[in-house]
Amino acid sequence: MDVTAEPLASSDAALLAVAAFAGEGDQAPPVLAGAAAQLGEALGVDLTAELSAVGFRAGPGELARVPTRGAVAAATVVVVGLGPVERAGTDQLRRAAAAVAGAAERIESLATDLPGAVTDADAGDAVAAVVEGLLLGSYRFSAYRSAPAAHQLESVTLQVADVEAARTAVHEAEAVAGATRFARDLVNTPPQDKRPPALADRVAEAFAGTDVRVRILDEQALVEGGYGGILGVGRGSSEPPRLVELTYEPDGAERSVALVGKGITFDTGGISLKPSESMETMKMDMAGAATVAAVVRAAAELRLPVKVTGLLALAENMPSGTATRVSDVLTMKGGTTVEVINTDAEGRLVLGDALVHASELQPDAIVDVATLTGAAVVALGERIGVLMASDDTLAERLLDASAHSGEPFWRLPLANEQYGERLEGAIADLRNSGSRSAGTIFAGLFLHRFVGEGIPWAHLDIAGVAWTDEASGYHTKGATGVPVRTLLRWLRAG
Ligand code: BES
Ligand code: MN
Ligand code: ZN
Repeated sequence: MDVTAEPLASSDAALLAVAAFAGEGDQAPPVLAGAAAQLGEALGVDLTAELSAVGFRAGPGELARVPTRGAVAAATVVVVGLGPVERAGTDQLRRAAAAVAGAAERIESLATDLPGAVTDADAGDAVAAVVEGLLLGSYRFSAYRSAPAAHQLESVTLQVADVEAARTAVHEAEAVAGATRFARDLVNTPPQDKRPPALADRVAEAFAGTDVRVRILDEQALVEGGYGGILGVGRGSSEPPRLVELTYEPDGAERSVALVGKGITFDTGGISLKPSESMETMKMDMAGAATVAAVVRAAAELRLPVKVTGLLALAENMPSGTATRVSDVLTMKGGTTVEVINTDAEGRLVLGDALVHASELQPDAIVDVATLTGAAVVALGERIGVLMASDDTLAERLLDASAHSGEPFWRLPLANEQYGERLEGAIADLRNSGSRSAGTIFAGLFLHRFVGEGIPWAHLDIAGVAWTDEASGYHTKGATGVPVRTLLRWLRAG
């Protein structure tokens, strides 16, 4: 992606894109944003009148096409809506950019002034939002199509005021969006091609040539290390589990964080078998691990001054003659024993081990990411994720990063006072599942038992937000890549 200070009218791109805000009131004409009016003059048309005439209201992501009749190199100008000016921020820019990417699907070159359209957004944030919207909105997962329909957009030029600053913002946003697309690719991959050993290898390959250290703990190393949770969940599968440790440790790192991802490559529920409709999307049950791998990759690419350890707890949850039974007791890493009341509550078992491993590294903070509970989807749906935390400052920083990323999260209480006793096992230390109510909180409380004393910890339950059945804005159908951008923003904020 390129940047320029030259006016759009002198661009040789095949498509030009400008923006407009919705006018006040139902019948009000749209209000041109950025350089739209200037471009209209160059075309010799009254853009506002043209747009009103075709009923364009500049709603969020709404598009109108205006022919240029030879006045500029491009045959068409698309005008994209940003909605009402008072609500237009960086997420509206992302969505508008995604709509423009859709309009440019069969076009090779595009020039747009979108980064300057919302004047009260930080200039760097605005550039990043447009880059993200374009790259995430044009994402297609076509690896399994016999005739891949590739996006043809090859060159994009952003018209900006400060070219130097924009160049840096573009470069960084490309790394962030690239990481998000990487996470989407892993999650969209069918489960037969990402069974734990294969997924571990694929992640390792993705770090070839970087200075991230990759260590893969195979089944033997897991036995030696006492990872009873990961082994217990993986037992039913013909492919053994793995724990992948990714370490990015730059010289002079100012702080260290550990990121832990749930990596169930397919969740059948195990012996507590899921009904088949509930299984349809369960290849996405490794979205936490995909997120962590993607974040570590971008952290290294961006040379962030933070030590980041990523832990991917990979297992396939299958029913079989070797599978963990209901009421079996597992001994987790560190010695805690757990009664498996429900083999479908497997995420917390693999994460427990990984959280103990993370705690041994003594990081300044631990964040885990997991498609953990159906109850999180019931509570907040597909567009808002759940955050739980042992530390208010960490929670607030993550929520702030999430709000700026257009990836909303809402905090639920770590209600040990109220529900802690539900964790008690009948014959072991803990049970892995409780009553029907407060299922998300129960799972969070369970995880907290495996976090080292005094280490600030946050848990992101992404069961609802990691996947979408319908495309919307810059979220294409299938994997969303949430919360890759939130975590990167949090890491970058220092
Ligand atoms: N992977 C599921 C949670 C999930 C559900 C993710 C829907 C995405 C969409 C998890 O392993 C699970 O099965 N959780 C159970 C826990 C229960 C048995 C205590 C659930 O939420 O039903
Ligand atoms: Mn499950
Ligand atoms: Zn699961």
